[in-house]
Amino acid sequence: MRRFAYLLILAGFGAPMEAAEITVQAPAVQRTVSLDPADPAWQKAPAASIALMPQGMVRPWGGGAVKRVEARALYTPQELFVRLQWEDKNADLTPSASQSFTDACAIMLPARAGSWPSPFMGDAQNPVVIWRWSAAAQKDVDEGYQAAEAAHPRLHYDFEPRPNDPLYRAAQGAGNPLAERERTTPVEFLAAKGYGSLTSQPDERVRGKGVWKDGQWTVVMAKPLQGTPTLAKAGRVPISFAVWDGGAGERNGLKAVSIWQSLALGPVSALPERTPAARGERVFRRYGCAVCHGPGGRGGVKSDNAQGGLVPPINKVKEGFTEEEVKQVVRRGRSSVPEDPSGPTPPLHMNAWSQVMDERELDDLVKYLWTLAPETQEW
Ligand code: HEC
Repeated sequence: MRRFAYLLILAGFGAPMEAAEITVQAPAVQRTVSLDPADPAWQKAPAASIALMPQGMVRPWGGGAVKRVEARALYTPQELFVRLQWEDKNADLTPSASQSFTDACAIMLPARAGSWPSPFMGDAQNPVVIWRWSAAAQKDVDEGYQAAEAAHPRLHYDFEPRPNDPLYRAAQGAGNPLAERERTTPVEFLAAKGYGSLTSQPDERVRGKGVWKDGQWTVVMAKPLQGTPTLAKAGRVPISFAVWDGGAGERNGLKAVSIWQSLALGPVSALPERTPAARGERVFRRYGCAVCHGPGGRGGVKSDNAQGGLVPPINKVKEGFTEEEVKQVVRRGRSSVPEDPSGPTPPLHMNAWSQVMDERELDDLVKYLWTLAPETQEW
């Protein structure tokens, strides 16, 4: 499927391909495009199949029910359109009970043109923006706000709350976007600069429509190009993806995520030919290794209750590991041994990358890590 996507892209656009980085090629379309996922304009946009993995960076680790999402994009003179499609046997769209959650999907882009933020919700220096569609919000838009009665038709109240009195609707009164009753779009626009900083930006409008049919969701999201700095001019932009399966209990950090891929607005020039180590540096960046192992793998990143209190540096792995041993750590992931066994689990935990990382990327990555090792001292 993934190879097929490459072939399509190569055949259609002659776009460059480097290691296993996937380019979602967005052609320019000079006519109005509707939000209908079946709009004929999509026939022009090649499909890219993106591998997803469970969110394994911070608590609560997990999710990952959906393994792959097919992404397409196109742009008109006014707007960027992104279409995501994935398999999900059941449509979960009424989160009106504490144990039920909604299906959802999202894309992430750097907030600033030319920046390359951490793939895990951005970082303090490099914020990100997120467009998040949810099936529950779609149902609100299509059928009106889904209150508790939608999930529980025989719900009985001992007393009648006064309608529209925020005193009786604390979440709505506090402006919680989940309790919004006058929804006009199923897509929320958010900004983040690292974990725990996700903020809704209700003034930024993303239109959207999602349709579930024959065991799959197809969701279209569209946002004006103007006012979105990263999309202001054609070219290559980092993009990443997330999907939640509400029926599998996924919400918030429990989700399936990708690492950075690229979105190409219009034809883009080929990435320059590079050495394996230089390609490996790009892999290091796209996978966010520096978030935990520090810039250039030099370490210094705190992880409470881990041995030594820090995530180990990886700029000297050449001295203690064979190439194959490093590859095994990257494929399988690694948890730190706690300093105090009765204490909390160290928060930074290395994801198993085998679901999403191509062996060619892994070869290049190891070549890069080997260039980081300082020259051995000659006596
Ligand atoms: C979310 C944090 C995180 C990210 C991102 C991360 N790692 Fe790790 N990594 C860790 C932790 C934690 C350990 C285990 C440390 C320990 O044993 O205490 C580790 C261990 C390792 C080790 C073994 C080092 C040793 O001395 O035992 C290697 C090699 C490694 N990581 C490479 C990578 C590479 C390459 C990437 C990018 C693809 C990466 N890591 C991304 C957290 C992370």
